[in-house]
Amino acid sequence: MQDELKARGAAARVRGILPLFEADEGRAEAFSIEYEGMLFDYAKTHLSREDRDAMVQWAEAAGVATRRDAMFSGQLINETEGRAVLHTALRNPEGGPIEVAGRDVMPEIRDTLARMKRFARRVRAGSFKGAGGEITDVVNIGIGGSHLGPEMTVRAMATFHDGPRCHFLSNVDGADAADILDGLDPRQTLVIVASKSFTTQETMTNAATVRDWMAEVVDDPAAQFVALSSAQDKTAAFGIPPDRVFDFGDYVGGRYSVWGPIGLSLMLAMGPDAFGMFLRGGASMDQHFREAPLAENMPVMLGLVGLWHHQAMGFPTRAMLPYAQRLARLPAYLQQLEMESNGKRVQMDGTPLEMPSGPVVWGEPGTNGQHAFYQLIHQGTQVVPCEFIVAAKGQEPRLTRHHELLLANCFAQSEALMRGRSLDEARALMGEAGHAGDELERQAAHRVFEGGRPSVTLVFDELTPYRLGQLIALYEHRVFVEGVMLGINSFDQWGVELGKELARALEPVLAGEDAAPEKDGSTRALVAYVRDIWRRGG
Ligand code: F6P
Repeated sequence: MQDELKARGAAARVRGILPLFEADEGRAEAFSIEYEGMLFDYAKTHLSREDRDAMVQWAEAAGVATRRDAMFSGQLINETEGRAVLHTALRNPEGGPIEVAGRDVMPEIRDTLARMKRFARRVRAGSFKGAGGEITDVVNIGIGGSHLGPEMTVRAMATFHDGPRCHFLSNVDGADAADILDGLDPRQTLVIVASKSFTTQETMTNAATVRDWMAEVVDDPAAQFVALSSAQDKTAAFGIPPDRVFDFGDYVGGRYSVWGPIGLSLMLAMGPDAFGMFLRGGASMDQHFREAPLAENMPVMLGLVGLWHHQAMGFPTRAMLPYAQRLARLPAYLQQLEMESNGKRVQMDGTPLEMPSGPVVWGEPGTNGQHAFYQLIHQGTQVVPCEFIVAAKGQEPRLTRHHELLLANCFAQSEALMRGRSLDEARALMGEAGHAGDELERQAAHRVFEGGRPSVTLVFDELTPYRLGQLIALYEHRVFVEGVMLGINSFDQWGVELGKELARALEPVLAGEDAAPEKDGSTRALVAYVRDIWRRGG
């Protein structure tokens, strides 16, 4: 497969993209998928119809459909941890039974959701009080999946907020805590400690700091703490009573967890009804993923386009470019979703991966990115496949011109990437600008865009809770499809453990309690340099 893919990719590079449109009038329609108010356009890629058929055949041969059904039915597809993968069950509370090792998990999911709703209603109505009265601010303490999902979605849904203000504390850098706590009234602040494991160093350090901050003015700080966790023994040890612990099963991975208790801040911000619409949007994408034939299936085709760019064309990164300011944290969210899921070195059976693992994912919202890194995207020597995301309607009815400009910019970028500007066109432009001779040649060369640069565009009507749910579920399933086809486990994350272990071991070295002779010279020198600064600082 690898060889065939590479050969196809090489031929596609020579062929380019525009000729595919010239040879196929129906290309725009044939290379797009519409589903429930969302259009995925992948016509501006190098994929020919034959290439696409080959990719779909690969997906069939890799068993994407079988694996997908195994996930939805609660089988233990996270084989390295012996766990089911059922974040999809969180967003389908009305769904039928799903058994994990002979036990139906739906009652516990429904029960927790009902408790979350009751709690959120009390906070929002002002009947759950802090020492100083109603809750005006919420601080969600968490990191990774216990941070990025809540922060990204709360920001995305700003239009729908009618609850307390939400703040997100994640970094162990004390500056994060200081900046967030500054200006908050501890007596009217609710603290959410979001940690599946309830052992994560950053989160537990921040939780203790915030508890101390609150204890300065509040007699019983624990009364204003809530825990979102799977580790009930640890939440109890921290002092949070069971009625303020919202738990979830080990079948929900951290980066897939915003649909359940980890989404509590989103529910507090916009209310249980809007949160319900968010879940419904996710469930609707699940249904599409389960039912649509592979070639008409949005997550499958998004996954196949990603693999095509990475594996066949050899493009090492992928830019996520939301033309939506409120989706500013989406690239960071997708970075964890994709890179923690598919950045693996071995296949499920432990043998080395035969292809490059998932791509580097990065991005920023447009139009800001245009004035920063798009230079490289248009003219740099490395091709970066771009994924544009934009809503047809803006969220500010009084500022429609802003939205027209946003859309024009978004569509212009994908057009420019594909079309480019030839040397002759550049020469003509420079001639019109009054240049001639060698100077014209020199100037024209700088103004050439080679074009033939691929992108996909996702357009939807407007950014509502329902659409946001669809959008996130779409990307989750895309990552799933890519993972199945790479033959890896997308649901573990052993790669983050070594650094954590070594950080724990370095603490006493920094404190001067351990000379750490076994450490390499560079690490010892860095520690010595810092300790010297501390010593001189007194
Ligand atoms: O270290 C990585 C990780 O385990 C992520 O997978 C997870 O989202 C994050 O840390 C936070 O973990 P927890 O919710 O257990 O604090």
